[in-house]
This record gives sequence, C-alpha cells and structure tokens, in this order.
Amino acid sequence: MLDIAFVKPALPKSGALVLLIAEGEAPGGLWEEADTATGGAIARGLAAGGFKGEKGKTCVILGPGAGLTRVVAVGLGKTDALSPLIAEQAGGAACAALTREDSAAIAADGLAAPLAAAVAMGAVLRAYRFDRYRTTQKPEELAKLTKLSLLVEDQTRARTAWAGLKPVAEGVFLTRDLVSEPPNVLTPAEMAERCKKLTELGLKVEVLGPKEMGRLGFGALLGVAQGSVNEPRMVVMHWQGAAGSGRGRKGKTKPVAFIGKGVTFDTGGISIKPAAGMEDMKWDMAGAGCVIGLMAALAGRKARVDAVGLVGLVENMPSGTAQRPGDVVKSYSGQTIEVLNTDAEGRLVLADVLWYCQEKYDPAFMIDLATLTGAIIISLGHDHAGLFSNDDGLSQQLQAAGVQTGEKVWRMPLDEAYDKQLKSDIADMKNIGGRPGGAITAAQFIQRFVNGKPWAHLDIAGTAWSTKDAPCIPKGATAYGVRLLDRLVAEFFET
Ligand code: BES
Ligand code: MN
Ligand code: ZN
Repeated sequence: MLDIAFVKPALPKSGALVLLIAEGEAPGGLWEEADTATGGAIARGLAAGGFKGEKGKTCVILGPGAGLTRVVAVGLGKTDALSPLIAEQAGGAACAALTREDSAAIAADGLAAPLAAAVAMGAVLRAYRFDRYRTTQKPEELAKLTKLSLLVEDQTRARTAWAGLKPVAEGVFLTRDLVSEPPNVLTPAEMAERCKKLTELGLKVEVLGPKEMGRLGFGALLGVAQGSVNEPRMVVMHWQGAAGSGRGRKGKTKPVAFIGKGVTFDTGGISIKPAAGMEDMKWDMAGAGCVIGLMAALAGRKARVDAVGLVGLVENMPSGTAQRPGDVVKSYSGQTIEVLNTDAEGRLVLADVLWYCQEKYDPAFMIDLATLTGAIIISLGHDHAGLFSNDDGLSQQLQAAGVQTGEKVWRMPLDEAYDKQLKSDIADMKNIGGRPGGAITAAQFIQRFVNGKPWAHLDIAGTAWSTKDAPCIPKGATAYGVRLLDRLVAEFFET
C-alpha cells in the first residue's frame, strides 16, 4: 500500500507537486508560492490547458521549474459542493497522473483535515495493483509511486481521520486480491485458509467442510459442489466490537449479518456456459470476497458493532459426479428445489447459508451480496448494484451509504406476483424463473430462505468487476460493497 504521511505545508524542493483547485478559486497558499517560485509557469500552464478547477479535470505541467518534476492540478469543482467523495476522487485522479514519480506531495493546505484524509484514501485506492503473477516486468513498468505526503495544516486531526480510513482501504485490497486471484489458486479451501488469517485482527473464524455441512443437511449448497474435486467450505467470521460485548455480557444485542456468494469458478455445471468470456467467472466469488474484506475492515478499525460474516464457498463444475438438470435437492430449510438449470447455482448456495445464518445468529438484519444474475447487468448496467429488500428502513440506509461512498444501489421490486414463475411440477420450487425479470425472480427465490428476517440482497454482477479505470478503482476487481457496508455500519449501527 502507498505510504501516506501528513506533513506541514511547505513547498517541496523537488519531485511532483499536486494542487487541488476548486472551480473559480483564486491562487493562494502553496499554489501561489509554487507559481511564484516557478516564475508564473503554473499560471501559464493552467491557462494554456484551459483548466478552471472543474470536478474530474486534471492538468499536468511538466518541468515547471523550481526543481519540480511536474505539477498536477486536480479540479475539485464548486467549493460549496465539496464532499469527502469528491476529495477522494481528486486523490485518485492525482495518483493516476503521478505514475512516473516515486514520491509526491499533495498541497492540501486549503482543506479541512477529514477532506485531506479522504484525498489520501482516494490516492491509495487508485494505486492498487495485482502484480503477484508477473515475473518479467521491466523496472519502468512496476509501480513507482511508493510515498505520498499530504501538506496539511492540522496534521494531528488528519492522521486521526486517516487511521479510521486506512483499515477500510486494507479491507478493499484484501477483497481485490481475492477477486483477482485465478481460480486454480483460489479454491474454496484456499479461500477459507485466507479467512483464517483474519484471526490476527481479532476476528473469530469457523470453517465448516463438506462433512459438517452434510450433517446439517445443506443439500442445496452441496448439490452445487458435488461436481468438483475441490471441496466446498462455509466460513463464519465473528467480530464482537459493540460496547460491552464479549464474555459475561448481559443485554446481548443482535449482530448485523453479511452473507456472500463464493463460487470460486462458475462453469455453469452441466448446463455449461459458452466458452467466450467464461474466464470472467473466476470473480463469481466477489460477494464472498466483499464480506471477507468488510469483516477485515470492521475489525481493523475496531468498529463498535457485533457483526457476523458468512460465506458459502463452492466450485460449480461439470463432471461425472455433477448435479443434473432435473435433480431435486433438499435445502437446509427443509424446502425442496428442482434444479432445472445448474447454472443458477448462486441462489442454491445462498439458500443454505442464509437459513443457517438466521437460525443460528438471530441477526438484526441480513445483507447478502452475490454476482447472481446476468439480468441485473441488463437492468442497471455497471453503475448501480440491484437492491432487493423486505425492509424500507434498511433500503433507505443502504441508499444513503451508497450516495456517500459512490457505491450506488438501485432498489428493485419484490412481489408475490413473481412467485408463479418459480412453481415446480414436482418440488416446492424450481431454481429458475425464465427470462422475464431474471434478477427479480432470483431475489424472490432467495427471499424464501430468510424466514421473514429484515434482509437486503445486493446483486453485484454488474459492479464487482470493471473493464476500465475509474478515479479510485483501477480496472479489474472493484471490491464493490466493502465501503458501502462499512459506511452503513459506521453511520447507522455502531454503539
Ligand atoms: N454467476 C452467474 C451470473 C453472472 C453473469 C455474474 C455474468 C456475472 C456476470 C450466475 O451464476 C448465472 O449463471 N446466472 C444465470 C441464471 C440463469 C441460468 C437463470 C444467468 O444470469 O444467466
Ligand atoms: Mn451460474
Ligand atoms: Zn454464478
């Protein structure tokens, strides 16, 4: 992770300098000093570039003088609209313009400490790389920027704000690492091993294998897993951070619960997917990846909340032992399911994990995340996750957290009317509802396993992976959901 330091505002003598400039702002502070030191090169460069401080705009001035390698101006937009999210995106944009520098300073002398910390967060998030499998990269292709100084008036307050953000960035990185890993490496067992490492952060981690799940009667999850030589796992991660929680505590509060779909590779099974693009299905565990990163973030920043994270980890493969279209399985809830398409496997995994979660932990609410349907991509594209919920309050809280973090949700309907699409001729339900409203019938299916508990389902098939760079997200695994749910907890559920 990019090394962040908060230091006293002073013009650097060398290296790169980033100026954060609001729309229509007059030169002042370090900006003015730098312009004077460079004999007006900055003002001339910005004028030539037509830069006025608009949100999302950057202007790079190379070799402006005064020993500086470059000046990067980043627009903040209108001052009265400035928010932590905009500051973060400015930090991300700055980072993207600093690739050839090994260290840089960001002039945040005009910003309040929390906004300066948000700038640092954005830069850190944008600097993420997944280089584990590169062995022949030339030095100039490797990440160069390793150290970033923020020049800020109140360093103490900025450091405190950053201390609350850094663990969230670490959670995001953990999720991005997991989601980026190739499927031959990240099997269910390997993913469970990585969960176990979280005990270092003070989480309690329990792992269930096929035997335990068989004894419990997880027929739906195990049906998906049976075609693979890579055994399934279910992992439960506990974080007990609420005031007065832990042993000997009296008035026990209900935990909040997060559940993730962790299909480490989804071939479709016997209902096999077409070859083109099938490699994308390595990230069919992004829901679980998010839950794991979120739990790490909550523990890392010692969130004052009791939380459980559960992930159902399986590989969906075709083989001589794979489940067939037409099989009927008995879920942990007791409800039977006719599996008419083995590619609708995520809902089968979630069915057992959700039922187990509500039965065992009696949570205040359950939020599941899953790369569940191609249909949600058709509905919402890549800029909103689909939100399905039986609880208006929880939905509004998620929407608010989405606006604050930029990890946006869009509420979709749930309605009994869709249930007729799930009627089976021989079992309690079938696992597909046909093409119309495919994301909705999938959510409607999952709802049958929440037992009336407050619940929200996030279909993240369109948001878990990005094919292009965004301000704070290099292309690839986005870790969508980590910041959304961390924010949800921080804003509404900490004691
Ligand atoms: N993992 C897929 C959904 C998916 C598709 C995620 C594209 C990310 C990108 C899921 O298991 C699946 O295969 N869903 C089917 C359901 C259908 C068979 C009812 C789908 O969406 O086509
Ligand atoms: Mn599938
Ligand atoms: Zn899937």
